[in-house]
Amino acid sequence: MTQSTTIKPFLEVLSGRRQAVPPLWMMRQAGRYLPEYRELRAKAGGFLDLCFTPDYAVEITLQPIRRFAFDAAIIFSDILVIPYALGRSVRFEAGEGPRLDPLDTPDKVATLARDADMAKLEPVFETLRRVKRELDSKTALIGFCGAPWTVATYMVAGQGTPDQAPARMMAYNHPEAFAEIIDVLVENSVRYLLGQLKAGAEALQIFDTWAGVLPPREFARWSIEPTKRIVEGVRKQVPDAKIIGFPRGAGALLPSYVEATGVDAVSIDWTAEPSLIREMVQSRVAVQGNLDPLALIAGGAALDRAVDDVLANFAGGRLIFNLGHGILQETPIAHVEQMIARVRRSGMH
Ligand code: CP3
Repeated sequence: MTQSTTIKPFLEVLSGRRQAVPPLWMMRQAGRYLPEYRELRAKAGGFLDLCFTPDYAVEITLQPIRRFAFDAAIIFSDILVIPYALGRSVRFEAGEGPRLDPLDTPDKVATLARDADMAKLEPVFETLRRVKRELDSKTALIGFCGAPWTVATYMVAGQGTPDQAPARMMAYNHPEAFAEIIDVLVENSVRYLLGQLKAGAEALQIFDTWAGVLPPREFARWSIEPTKRIVEGVRKQVPDAKIIGFPRGAGALLPSYVEATGVDAVSIDWTAEPSLIREMVQSRVAVQGNLDPLALIAGGAALDRAVDDVLANFAGGRLIFNLGHGILQETPIAHVEQMIARVRRSGMH
């Protein structure tokens, strides 16, 4: 029998319809654990060249789809393309992570551009259009941006730090200047996400990797509020836009994040307490997650047990199977295959 309309399980879950076998993808699914990524990476020169050259970015986005037939492809780019389009200096040092010009005083903030140069982001839109044409009818396409708080932590410090203390200090010492950075990021993230939807993205994820370092009052102000404004800004133009939030480390603050932001799903890390998530989060929205990336490195019986725990905890409701954070470079590909086989077998009985 031929089906006239093909459903995408990933989008079904985001639309409120649980799937017997949870759809599956992995944060950072395109990356250094794949030999075919490392090969292209070596050819391309800088990491940003990789992101801004559609020939490379399309290929890298599709590499994990070909290998593993994930239910969703995430566009290959980075959250720091927004500061780059705002005219900030952004570099990726091999093995060291991002380096930016620190934006750590009110004087410097006064020089920050209000509008990103969208022409600089055009290659990302072109990559989305091309990937969309390449995907089969059951695979969804995800666009993304960083949440303003997380992007600001890198802009202020000029790099990643263990607990993003420079941005937290600036938010206490110079709340107006810090709010100015956040406002600029909110406005430009809305434009960027709308551009991604127009170019073919079918869902959006907002990465707030550093949400968990904030105390509750600061979390409400710097993580929840800006994310809520982005969700509202996007939905004003595209009312049915599907949006996933990832406030990593939010823990017991997740229910208020979900309620206030209006996201369709939250990505949860592996420390989340299952009954709290089921009762206060999954009862309202879909849940994505939350395998410990280290269990994926461990493999064997430990991996099987960890996969089974995620399924036992969350597969009774709307679940998108994923990791609790990005896949790590040293992960064996055979372990990814083992995880996928176990998840896909799970709905069969
Ligand atoms: O998920 C995907 O496959 C899509 C691509 C993607 C990348 N970065 C590619 C990347 C996505 C969604 C991101 C998001 C991102 N970038 C976040 C939020 C999610 C998270 O992982 O916490 C953050 C905080 C960044 C900023 C960033 N980019 C850092 C801190 C680093 C260095 C750390 C590292 O792993 O090297 C990057 C570089 C980066 N972004 C790489 C990749 C594949 C590695 C670059 C390389 O090949 O050298």
